[in-house]
Amino acid sequence: MARIFSGIQPSGELHIGNYLGAVKNWVALQSQFESFFCVVDYHAITVAYTPEDLRRRTREMATSLLAAGLDPAQCAVFVQSRVPEHTELQWIFNTITPLGELERQVQFKDKAARQEQVMAGLLNYPVLQAADILLYLADAVPVGEDQVQHLELSRVVARNWNARFAPEGAPYFPEPQAKLTPTRRIAGLDGNAKMSKSLNNTIGLLETPDEIWAKLRPAVTDPARIKKTDAGNPDNCRVIFQLHRAFSSPEMVAEVETKCRSAAWGCVDCKKALHESMNAELTPIRTRAQALADQPSLVDAALEAGAEKARAVAAQTMRHVKESMGLA
Ligand code: TYM
Repeated sequence: MARIFSGIQPSGELHIGNYLGAVKNWVALQSQFESFFCVVDYHAITVAYTPEDLRRRTREMATSLLAAGLDPAQCAVFVQSRVPEHTELQWIFNTITPLGELERQVQFKDKAARQEQVMAGLLNYPVLQAADILLYLADAVPVGEDQVQHLELSRVVARNWNARFAPEGAPYFPEPQAKLTPTRRIAGLDGNAKMSKSLNNTIGLLETPDEIWAKLRPAVTDPARIKKTDAGNPDNCRVIFQLHRAFSSPEMVAEVETKCRSAAWGCVDCKKALHESMNAELTPIRTRAQALADQPSLVDAALEAGAEKARAVAAQTMRHVKESMGLA
């Protein structure tokens, strides 16, 4: 069975951006692939944080992933720092990754611009990401669009290692491909191109219907539609119409489109319909999250089983890598 790997930062509970861009797809793929899904706490320490907060966010993210539908019987869900081979392989990959490839990463440039002092770990972040993926010899990586450049780097790393240490014509590391979905980039409620916790423009997956409505109500719509009687254009209503396409049935999406264009519905009507569709999908997730919060041992057991599965594969890869490189 082909293998997939993907990771997510421990930013606390999921939001609908990383849920629709990645995690919902993980849930759909877990029965078709041998699947490894990782809460990447080593990645998270490349920016300022407090230990207590990281511990809490890691836990919340793991709970959110299970609530969203990852099934520990079908896939491995684990925390990165529990599998030491991730950082071991990263060191090795640091020695075959050209510095220029790291310096041109858009996410590095963005994050570095916001820091007073930039640590080496931030620059080397994508090398750890390559190690995450290649440790499991993953063929495909289900991610949102913002991770595509990091994945290109993972392919460069695989290619460089194979060229140097694998026999000609028999590459050891596959070159992993991104698996994108139609919801590969969810816009923020404020109209920003990306919904992201650091931009404070998200809806949390576990927020209550009232909390969600309080965020949907002021969310941006078609800027040209000023009065309710103005005809709207769903194509210019990036945030709300995009969420309708993600959460509502095709019939509802068609209805929204017609009623917006004819001005039969105002933006509030359209948002109310979206609120209903979101509640239908998110209520069972919220209920599962509550049940998991009441039984923390279930989360512990899932993470331990996941780490064990991961360690078995990771140890095998490291054995091969070290032997090939004269390190064993
Ligand atoms: P992270 O934690 O920022 O995001 C997790 C996943 O969610 C996707 N995503 C989105 N998709 C669509 N619209 C959005 N607004 C949105 N926000 C987030 C991301 O594309 C990602 O798939 N560096 C990675 C974590 C990582 C990783 C890996 C991923 C570490 N190692 C190995 C894949 C493979 C990150 O920070 O994702």
